[in-house]
Amino acid sequence: MYRTNTCGELNINNVGQTVTLCGWLQRSRDLGGMTFIDLRDRYGITQLAFNMETNAELCEKARRLGREYVLQAVGTVIERSSKNSKIPTGEIEIEVRELNILNESKTPPFTIEDSSDGGDDLRMKYRYLDIRRNPVRCNLELRHRMAMLVRNYLSNQDFLEIETPMLIKSTPEGARDFVVPSRMNPGEFYALPQSPQQYKQLLMVAGMDRYFQIVRCFRDEDLRADRQPEFTQIDCEMSFAEQEDVLDMFEGLAKHLFKEVKDLDFGAFPRMTWHEAMRLYGSDKPDIRFGMQFVELNDVAQGRGFSLFDGAELVVGINAEGCADYTRKQLDALTDFVKRPQVGAGGLVYVKYNADGSFKSSVDKFFDQNALHAVADKFGAKPGDLMLILCGPAMKTRVQLCSLRLEMGGRLGLRRPDQFAPLWVIDFPLLEWDEETQRFYAMHHPFTAPKPEDEALLDQPDRWGDIRANAYDIVINGVEVGGGSIRIHDRVLQNKMFHALGFSDEKAYEQFGFLLDAFSYGAPPHAGLAFGFDRLCSLFGGADSIRDFIAFPKNNSGRDVMSCSPAPISQQQLDELNICVKQ
Ligand code: AMO
Repeated sequence: MYRTNTCGELNINNVGQTVTLCGWLQRSRDLGGMTFIDLRDRYGITQLAFNMETNAELCEKARRLGREYVLQAVGTVIERSSKNSKIPTGEIEIEVRELNILNESKTPPFTIEDSSDGGDDLRMKYRYLDIRRNPVRCNLELRHRMAMLVRNYLSNQDFLEIETPMLIKSTPEGARDFVVPSRMNPGEFYALPQSPQQYKQLLMVAGMDRYFQIVRCFRDEDLRADRQPEFTQIDCEMSFAEQEDVLDMFEGLAKHLFKEVKDLDFGAFPRMTWHEAMRLYGSDKPDIRFGMQFVELNDVAQGRGFSLFDGAELVVGINAEGCADYTRKQLDALTDFVKRPQVGAGGLVYVKYNADGSFKSSVDKFFDQNALHAVADKFGAKPGDLMLILCGPAMKTRVQLCSLRLEMGGRLGLRRPDQFAPLWVIDFPLLEWDEETQRFYAMHHPFTAPKPEDEALLDQPDRWGDIRANAYDIVINGVEVGGGSIRIHDRVLQNKMFHALGFSDEKAYEQFGFLLDAFSYGAPPHAGLAFGFDRLCSLFGGADSIRDFIAFPKNNSGRDVMSCSPAPISQQQLDELNICVKQ
């Protein structure tokens, strides 16, 4: 038997017991007469004690060991003279009488402790060492726990976990596919699924009624902190369900996770239409942990001779409460922020509502005190507040102001990771115009149903941009955690949708024929949703990057720096696959 106990479980009640522990040497301290080793495993740290007087040979042996050696220690649990109240095993130590080296280790490239001296790249290269550190291990434990909670919850609601294929057909909509060449079918390719969307709909046609899968998805898109090329969804689909049924079910799941993991109770999640979210927050994933809603100012800001305002489609701003004492330097920094290419605003107008009731603005030339008062009234501002205003084309300006709002929220400490503000964003537009390709794209995917009251607009091409979808996202703290929709299950409506997306009947059949065929054999009304599981875990774990919650993530260039992939393959492999690589 390698061990009788783990390194995290022994305490004062075990004093006197003979135990065998295994683990890694985290640290050793040589105090002359005594040598101490912190022995670490997944469960914790236990101190091993070696006494020069009573067992000089063993003590010498202990002194020679390096960091990360794998050890087995047999000894007696004794009470410590100097206790450590910070760890559960801190009142005891093991008086070792037998020490076996199970494996040696090179000196690790960074310290394997809670706060490591290793940079990101180094820790990614030696990810297996990084995972030995508490913070990373805890993240993976949280992920496991949440996966178990999800499985149990959905299983209790009669959902079946069903696996769908990983080698599927490439489809033109959505992000770029990762493709896999087929050796047996030269010149032909599979795609890795961006999501199991079509298969889960087929499972509804197949009568499975309620499906879920914690499933890996692949998208060849630009990476960010909350995007990985391979990521995991909690993918779900339900038959005979309306929007209300879906929102209810998955709000229930989210609440269950909040309760079990965070001991937080929520009432009904607020709901906001997409239009409202864009108007009030400039984003379809508003962070509603703090207010600072947008205020539209055209009526009080235009007609005063300030040409930038007068010529703008929209003049809109936010009120930063209590920030009227911002210095020139701070205001310049905000102006620089909105002018960065990532934000792209031309400039920033400020209005300070001074504590004495007077106003000071960057547009004093055009706005007298009365006019500034009218602006402040629009904001509901009070003395001490700072109003920040942008202008320009409506949608573009809203998105820019959204960046500024989030920046201000961050600066003012209003985006606390331990506070959670979930909401549903509903009634997304069905179709989105793309200037570059001069065509409409499905905002969610081509199987999403329009709202019944907007269905007739599918016959009026000039109104396609106005059609609202029966689509919804679940958003927490400004992160899109999940999204879904009611699906089209009617062949005629699906054809109209393909038509709007610029597909001929033949092209649509070529791409989605198997689904369309299935729909002619009694497809039930159905709807679904997928949570981004990595995003959900990182939110619950209070981290910004989903990488911290993935055991072996890719870096920002989509590379696995540990295994060095992607990598070239041999000419023989290429020949077998009939692939000619351009030099
Ligand atoms: P959608 O494309 O909105 O919907 O994806 C669902 C959720 O998956 C997460 N997500 C990602 N997470 C990490 N890295 C990525 N690259 C990434 N891309 C998406 C997001 C997102 O909300 N089939 C539909 C769902 C449905 O209609 O049922 C779908 O995939 O949290």
